[in-house]
Amino acid sequence: MKPIKKAVFPVAGMGTRFLPATKVMPKELFPIVDRPLLQYAVDEALEAGIEQMIFINGRGKGMIEDHFDLAYELERTMGDRGKDSSVLDGTRLTPGNSVFIRQQEPLGLGHAIWCARDIIGDEPFAIFLPDEFMVGSPGCMRQMVDAYDELGGNIVCALEIPIEDTPSYGVINPGYRKGPITEVKGLVEKPAAGTAPSNLILPGRYILQPEVMRILETQEAGAGGEIQLTDAMAQMIGKQPFHGMTFDGRRYDCGSKVGYVEANLAMALAHPDIGDDIRTIAEKLLANS
Ligand code: UTP
Repeated sequence: MKPIKKAVFPVAGMGTRFLPATKVMPKELFPIVDRPLLQYAVDEALEAGIEQMIFINGRGKGMIEDHFDLAYELERTMGDRGKDSSVLDGTRLTPGNSVFIRQQEPLGLGHAIWCARDIIGDEPFAIFLPDEFMVGSPGCMRQMVDAYDELGGNIVCALEIPIEDTPSYGVINPGYRKGPITEVKGLVEKPAAGTAPSNLILPGRYILQPEVMRILETQEAGAGGEIQLTDAMAQMIGKQPFHGMTFDGRRYDCGSKVGYVEANLAMALAHPDIGDDIRTIAEKLLANS
């Protein structure tokens, strides 16, 4: 069984739910207190033993590449002024271990992943949707890689949500369940209200076999007129092992305003430097609202 050494980060979306904030600023670099969402996802990948980071980027989002580069002027000036720039440690990726690919048009998540086909080759790989913010110890992908080491095949993160929210997500048709593992018997993207096969959704972390790239090659547009990863994954079920893993931790949907604000509040309250101040402020705001 080949180990998971490559990760794909699709970051070429338009982020329309956050306009006008995302007119210039990529959603994936939005901060949770002081650390960008995408930095958290890369840290999660490194913790899981992943070595090569593949970013699927779009026009006008060049600052994503800059974030992971050397910030020469900044580091030099901070050094000259006796300021500690160690806070930037981990933002510079290992030379030669990151790849940036352009998705010329945001045709959907499936299309974004397919853009990485030549770099993935014939290796299994991980996918991170960076606007899904996962907080856990060990991290979500570390937990998934541990499950993969036992089960092989394809592993998707699985999350229970209220059934009425399922029309916004990819949903699992579940088979047997054993602890955190669920057999995946089918997948459906954005089911119409009342038709979801379960309340178990795909919250944006995947370990997939490279065969999915061959399927994506000819994948037609699906829900929302986009080429959907879920539709391609659904075609692998029955041909390869396919499991969901319920993650032990907390997930915030930072693609939505509510989830993003919630994540900031939760992380600010837990922050060692500002947590107490934020708690006092939040209590005052609630008392006055
Ligand atoms: P989303 O659907 O959450 O992102 O895709 P979006 O389309 O940018 O946001 P809204 O819905 O308009 O507000 C999840 C991830 O997949 C990437 C996005 O950048 C995001 O990180 N993505 C999506 C692509 O890279 N390419 C696409 O064609 C679509």
